[in-house]
Amino acid sequence: MGPLPSVSYYRPPLDPACAQRKPLIVCKCDPYADRPTVYNPVVTTPVVEIERLSRRFGAFTAVDSLTLVANAGEVFGLLGSNGAGKSTTIKMLTTLLPPSSGEARVGGFSITTQPVEVRRAIGYVPQAVSVDGSLTGYENLLIFAKLYDIPRSEQEARIREQLTFVDLTADAGRLVSQYSGGMVRRLEIAQATLHRPRVLFLDEPTVGLDPIARDAVWKHLIDLRDQYGTTLFLTTHYLEDAESHCDRIAIMHMGKLAALGTLKELEASLGAGSHTLDEVFVHYAGATLDSGGTFREVSTERTTEQRLG
Ligand SMILES: Nc1ncnc2c1ncn2[C@@H]1O[C@H](COP(=O)(O)OP(=O)(O)OP(=O)(O)O)[C@@H](O)[C@H]1O
Ligand SMILES: [Mg+2]
Repeated sequence: MGPLPSVSYYRPPLDPACAQRKPLIVCKCDPYADRPTVYNPVVTTPVVEIERLSRRFGAFTAVDSLTLVANAGEVFGLLGSNGAGKSTTIKMLTTLLPPSSGEARVGGFSITTQPVEVRRAIGYVPQAVSVDGSLTGYENLLIFAKLYDIPRSEQEARIREQLTFVDLTADAGRLVSQYSGGMVRRLEIAQATLHRPRVLFLDEPTVGLDPIARDAVWKHLIDLRDQYGTTLFLTTHYLEDAESHCDRIAIMHMGKLAALGTLKELEASLGAGSHTLDEVFVHYAGATLDSGGTFREVSTERTTEQRLG
């Protein structure tokens, strides 16, 4: 292999184990195509390693000794009722909030001692809106290209590539305040992945979107995973999204990990007979599906209000 081009965005080193197994997913449009990013559900490479992570606010424990691992190329869903501790967990993993105790490594870097390296290795789409409505889509991406230190000579091509990727090329010159909710979410995904992060954290990526816009967002997320091997670590209240798209699902309850596994494993964990993810959720998240609308409706309305302010 010849010398690698000099770039300032992060790319993980080749994992020797990856080179020897048949890749299921290899990144294509990438100068490092000879360093495939691989998702293989059988041979796993930990990329988000959480160990006894806790966060307290005064006397209240929002995240309580959480331990789990998400693997390279995985779509990992974090579920739980309102207030379960999902956003607090993601804020710690993205180094926005220091843990009270415990540790986590993201892309091999410690969130407590190597926060700068962690930030280079990740993208983050927060629960609240993260783009500026008074700028165009292109301008929003340009700001992030500068923040991520993408070389000036590469910025325009990278932004165009991202706009194409999320189907926003025709709308790049419009003010974001005129975008629909689905377009805003797609722009946020383009913004958070400009630097080709190894892990993308998303806090409720499809909340408040209609089914067609949700499908469009998911298409782009799965494309990201398939083309670049990006690990997706996300929270959602849409159980059907978790069912359809997540390789593994963790359920949090009152700050603790209540269950973790594939959909099949979680359903089987309830014992004999066939069970749905709704039943699994009620069992582990301590939620009820009655009293004024289904859990899905209540959670979605509340988080939509939160997102829109
Ligand atoms: N800065 C803070 N100060 C005090 N308490 C906080 C703070 N941030 C979060 N909490 C509390 O921690 C708990 C977990 O909050 P978090 O936002 O992580 O929940 P969540 O699972 O993301 O919920 P939702 O589904 O509603 O988004 C909640 O009880 C919340 O009120
Ligand atoms: Mg939240």
